[in-house]
Amino acid sequence: MLSTKLPSIEEYLGSNVHLLPQTDYLRSLHTVIRDRNARRDDFVLTSESIIRMLIEAGLNLLPLEKCEVTTPVGATYEGLRLPSRICGVSVVRAGESMEGPLRAVCPSIRIGKILMQRDKKTKLPHLYYTSLPSDIAESQVLLLEPMLATGGTALATIQLLLDKGVAEENIVFVNLITVPEGISAVCRRYPKVRIVTSSIEERLNENAYMVPGIGDFGDRFFGTDI
Ligand code: URA
Repeated sequence: MLSTKLPSIEEYLGSNVHLLPQTDYLRSLHTVIRDRNARRDDFVLTSESIIRMLIEAGLNLLPLEKCEVTTPVGATYEGLRLPSRICGVSVVRAGESMEGPLRAVCPSIRIGKILMQRDKKTKLPHLYYTSLPSDIAESQVLLLEPMLATGGTALATIQLLLDKGVAEENIVFVNLITVPEGISAVCRRYPKVRIVTSSIEERLNENAYMVPGIGDFGDRFFGTDI
């Protein structure tokens, strides 16, 4: 699929789409994972560092609850805590790379899984497997999918969560890299879903890979590219 005219995404930036601050440090991390010659351990370690930043940015979008604690010197601190019902939902297989960083931040978080893949004949997303917490309808959901390219699978995955009773505004899509096509597809269909990402790439190439991109994320992360 060759992108000709890129969709405009200006209207979504800052409201639906939360792009991590494009710092030099983040660029140095991107430099590691974009290098086709990166060693796998560097690729895994560095992508997990970025994913952790994304997860923390995603948690910041949740409705935090006011609470008070008493400090060791007896003072009251007016604090905030994460909502009690949060779950991660990883889109197998690439999304599973985000489970470790999520657990590192929220050790007791419940994590569901969805296996949705494009059928080679019909070209439509086909649902193979789901395992979701029973109270998902009442939860804030961090949807874990590092690659948002054409958006086909993402749309079907979000629709599945809505069919399970999750409110659209309770879904935060945690994503490593995306393209205007993917943002436009998700935000037009689901305007209350928020996307947290670390990079908006230039475009898709004729094979639906993002450019400049990082190649096949799942293969590089899980070592199935060799
Ligand atoms: N999936 C990937 O792993 N990489 C892309 O560039 C697009 C989809």
